[in-house]
Amino acid sequence: MNVKTDANIHTSVLLEELVSAVTIHHSAKNIIVDCTLGLAWHASQVIQKMNPGDIFIGFDADERNLMLAQERLEALKTKTKIVLIHSNFEHLREELAKHDIHSITGIYYDLGVSSMHFDQAERWFSLRLDGPLDMRFNTRSWKTAADVLNYSEEKDLFQIFKEYGEEPHCRKIAARVITARKQKKFQTTTDLNDFLDSEINSHIKTKTRVFQALRIEVNWELDTLKWSLSQAIELLGSGGNIFVISFHSLEDRITKQTFKRETRDCICSDIICQCWHKKSLKLINKKPILPWAEEQKTNSRSRSAKARHAQKI
Ligand SMILES: C[S@@+](CC[C@H](N)C(=O)[O-])C[C@H]1O[C@@H](n2cnc3c(N)ncnc32)[C@H](O)[C@@H]1O
Repeated sequence: MNVKTDANIHTSVLLEELVSAVTIHHSAKNIIVDCTLGLAWHASQVIQKMNPGDIFIGFDADERNLMLAQERLEALKTKTKIVLIHSNFEHLREELAKHDIHSITGIYYDLGVSSMHFDQAERWFSLRLDGPLDMRFNTRSWKTAADVLNYSEEKDLFQIFKEYGEEPHCRKIAARVITARKQKKFQTTTDLNDFLDSEINSHIKTKTRVFQALRIEVNWELDTLKWSLSQAIELLGSGGNIFVISFHSLEDRITKQTFKRETRDCICSDIICQCWHKKSLKLINKKPILPWAEEQKTNSRSRSAKARHAQKI
């Protein structure tokens, strides 16, 4: 595969909206964090709005994407300091502390998989290509999608397909996986595709939901997002902006609920409540930001995108 060619065919989602949101706050020294650097398409535009002396930090759990992003960012020849971190964004606070950074002026997330993931058969993020059932963003983490299918208990599989895939046939699929793996372990995407065709149905929506559920489970996507968002809000200095693009309702719900919680003082009904929770965010847009019709027409990936923007008080 020609990595460079593939890396050059990505179209960023909500690019202008994201760039203007995270760069509106100008302090003497701006520190902006991209939690999902990918191939640095958003990042390149953000950095071009930053000043010499500012710091840009990019996280990605995928080492290969991080290397490609580095190539793209080196070509910018910017005077903004760039720090790239190979880590899951759940370790945000800890990783920034290693660079003596304890407060930031902007942060953003463009969640999910990059176009590179869909095009790499060997990582199986795609239904189209035959390859091992992997799905890890970080190939050093221990659990693959095949492990989930081959070794999880039926009740856990049921829960995964139900909660992470919102799949109506979740009970049936979980039960059939247990029977099927006694004959032959799941190893490849074709094994899973054939299983779904023969045992459930060959509907693309079922396959997509099963695919999504396994990916979320393998990468702990929902928990890591919750942990990371809380850290991000704490790290933001007053007036700093947070912008989150998500591609399915489960991620968007987490962002929405986190922002909502942070836009209110304590609402405990307990009169002796001691949590003293004070609101820390204001919503810049009450409703989610959606791509314009034009963007949806030219970039099919953008059709399921929703973004939320809030500002630290
Ligand atoms: C949709 S892509 C981002 C594309 C990017 N905005 C661009 O302009 O090229 C998402 C990226 O986030 C990374 N990623 C997903 N979840 C992550 C996590 N929990 N921690 C760190 N990186 C993550 C993926 O490896 C992928 O490269």
